[in-house]
Amino acid sequence: RIVYVNGEFLPEESATVSIFDRGFLFADGVYEVSPVLKGQMFDNDGHLVRLQRSLSELRISLPMPVDEIVAIQNELIERNRLQEGMIYLQVTRGAADRDFAFPKDAKPSIVLFTQTLSILDSPKAKKGLSVITVPDIRWSRRDIKTVGLLAQSLAKQAALDEGADDAWMVQDGFVTEGSSNNAFIVTQDGKIITRNLSNDILHGITRKAVLALVEREGLLLEERAFTPEEAYEAAEAFSTSATGFVMPVVKIDGRILHNGAPGPVSVRLRGLYIEAAM
Ligand code: PDD
Repeated sequence: RIVYVNGEFLPEESATVSIFDRGFLFADGVYEVSPVLKGQMFDNDGHLVRLQRSLSELRISLPMPVDEIVAIQNELIERNRLQEGMIYLQVTRGAADRDFAFPKDAKPSIVLFTQTLSILDSPKAKKGLSVITVPDIRWSRRDIKTVGLLAQSLAKQAALDEGADDAWMVQDGFVTEGSSNNAFIVTQDGKIITRNLSNDILHGITRKAVLALVEREGLLLEERAFTPEEAYEAAEAFSTSATGFVMPVVKIDGRILHNGAPGPVSVRLRGLYIEAAM
């Protein structure tokens, strides 16, 4: 695989960053994951807008103009002949002597790589996910897409250790979001519910696109926090992300939804989203 690091396209074996990089020492950096279908990125503009917002919240400067980043993304997709999967982009504050204060003269590091994934024919999407709820132990700026992902990694592993597929995180009795996705339920009377935007969750690019489809289709929507108990009683549930698209959820903390099969609203939104991405 060819990757990109600070101005160079290199085989992954030869690509390096400094051990003093603040991304490594402080998780002082942000990232984006853009989906690739048929060799083309989807919703990349939204991801790049969010990247710039994350960077400005941390006062890290973008190492190059956005159109150059897009050119690098496209070149990497081509060089690796990526058909379906994702392109990862990370910007950190750069390398400097270890100090909690921001370094005066560090140059931001930028790294990009591609990864092949089966998005359309995902067996998980056909079967539906089983999720467990876990306490949300993250910091309070989850709107910033930082590389500090330990809490999410612990949540995901806790789910796998219990034989589930993913974890939904819970704060003060309400679901915030999934370990790497936004969480939705559909009530018995057909309302789609997902948590409203705030610093408590990542402002998902897929969430936004799916909400536009919900509106276009005239489906009922409530943007508000919901409890795990509401989710147990829901008609169906699903999650959204750049790599999962719309993922039906069929089990939450052992409670089975929609007889254990993906529900009609989830399946329909997944289909509409894929249609829009093709
Ligand atoms: N994760 N919430 C969290 C905590 C996430 O990490 C993600 C994305 C989302 C969904 O956002 P979007 O629709 O913009 O992908 C929500 C990416 C895919 C990842 O870390 O791999």
